[in-house]
Amino acid sequence: MTKRIMVLTGSPNKDGLTAACGNAAAAGIAGAGLEVNRVDLNALKIARCSACGTGYGPCRTEHRCQVEDDFQDVHKRILECEGFVLVTPVYWGDMSESVKAFVDRLRRNEASKRDESGLKGKPCIGVAAAGGSGNGTITCLLNMQQFLNHVRADIFDLITITRKSRDYKLNAVRCAAEAMARLLS
Ligand SMILES: Cc1cc2nc3c(=O)[nH]c(=O)nc-3n(C[C@H](O)[C@H](O)[C@H](O)COP(=O)(O)O)c2cc1C
Repeated sequence: MTKRIMVLTGSPNKDGLTAACGNAAAAGIAGAGLEVNRVDLNALKIARCSACGTGYGPCRTEHRCQVEDDFQDVHKRILECEGFVLVTPVYWGDMSESVKAFVDRLRRNEASKRDESGLKGKPCIGVAAAGGSGNGTITCLLNMQQFLNHVRADIFDLITITRKSRDYKLNAVRCAAEAMARLLS
């Protein structure tokens, strides 16, 4: 069976920088002969974590989220993929709200498994796409890196891209995704 890599994007802008990065990553993965599983987090209903009880719900012990929405399907699908690319626009020096809501809940369910995390050793690429000043790309990636470390994913690359670096960094995103996919093929 052809191996799959998930490409997640989290911008309301259908043809902005985030979408362009998602397209570049998908092209790189397809170029290496792997299947692409696209997820537009803004098109889904994924609520923020409810921080159940005094801070933890069944995510801690049963590794499932009790807020029933589109999270469950994406959670299942990312576990079935061999790797993933996460692209976020930079909002306030951080990931966008849709990306944050997803990774917060994913982290609770998988980090609580420690070495049994379903994302352990999964190669991944993080991309922070800034359309404004470009300030805040580093803090955004720092927070994404924290999440990736918590779930024990294997970071292949972390890439910043701004309006100024758009042309050559889109190429970098495509090359990075292709190189990661080739490792898996
Ligand atoms: C609420 C909000 C906060 C933002 N904060 C930053 C920021 O901290 N740094 C920056 O360079 N751009 C910032 N921007 C600009 C976005 O990074 C820019 O719109 C980017 O292109 C988003 O990706 P898109 O093209 O997919 O919409 C912000 C935009 C919004 C809407």
